[in-house]
Amino acid sequence: MRLFIDTASVKEVRDAVRWGVVQGATTNPKILSGEGSGFDLQERILEIVELVQGPVSVEIVSEDPEEMLEEGRMYASWHENIVVKVPMGLESMHVVSTLERGGIPTNVTGLMATNQAVLASMAGASYVSIFFGRISDLGTDPVPVIEESAKLLHPNTRTQIIVGSIRNLMDINRSFLAGADILTVPYVFLKQMAHHPKTVETIQEFNSAWAKARAVTAEGVPELVGRR
Ligand code: E4P
Repeated sequence: MRLFIDTASVKEVRDAVRWGVVQGATTNPKILSGEGSGFDLQERILEIVELVQGPVSVEIVSEDPEEMLEEGRMYASWHENIVVKVPMGLESMHVVSTLERGGIPTNVTGLMATNQAVLASMAGASYVSIFFGRISDLGTDPVPVIEESAKLLHPNTRTQIIVGSIRNLMDINRSFLAGADILTVPYVFLKQMAHHPKTVETIQEFNSAWAKARAVTAEGVPELVGRR
């Protein structure tokens, strides 16, 4: 059970790594586009890799299989922790099996169904990415897709299941409970995971009780042992 951060923002990665809660990162072309155009892709990815010290997925945008291979090999040459993200498709399976045979880890992305996860795993994918929110968008429950994929892949293959496309905290809980190995989570939800109004209320109650006790102590009531 691991958390990755789904972002291309160095600041967000730095925060999440400082909190000690993420062991990897995922990017995609849309997430990278959200960072504007004024940056060098290789430099940005290497900054993230240096911070995360774990797998960082970079997605192929070429559509021709030979160009996909070339693009994937280029990303992999940047750093050993780079995972080549390959969009799901039949021709992509050739790309995945070739890269994996050459020792380059892949993450097959955009999965909406169990059969896609099985096929990608058979091609040798190190990771498959199931899109929780986008499956839900079509009125289908993503949980059975994760459960079925975990049931089939876990005992039989080395492929790890990443769940992305997270829309709320419930998606995170349900995905882990369904058997996901890794959740890739946007920054906003990582922050929300720490927060509960009842926790804030409780801590305030405890601290104000302590402050009150200290005030009383200052007026002559015996001090609480060990707290100054
Ligand atoms: C996963 O690897 C993808 O980057 C991501 O989670 C897609 O999410 P979206 O549906 O919010 O675009």
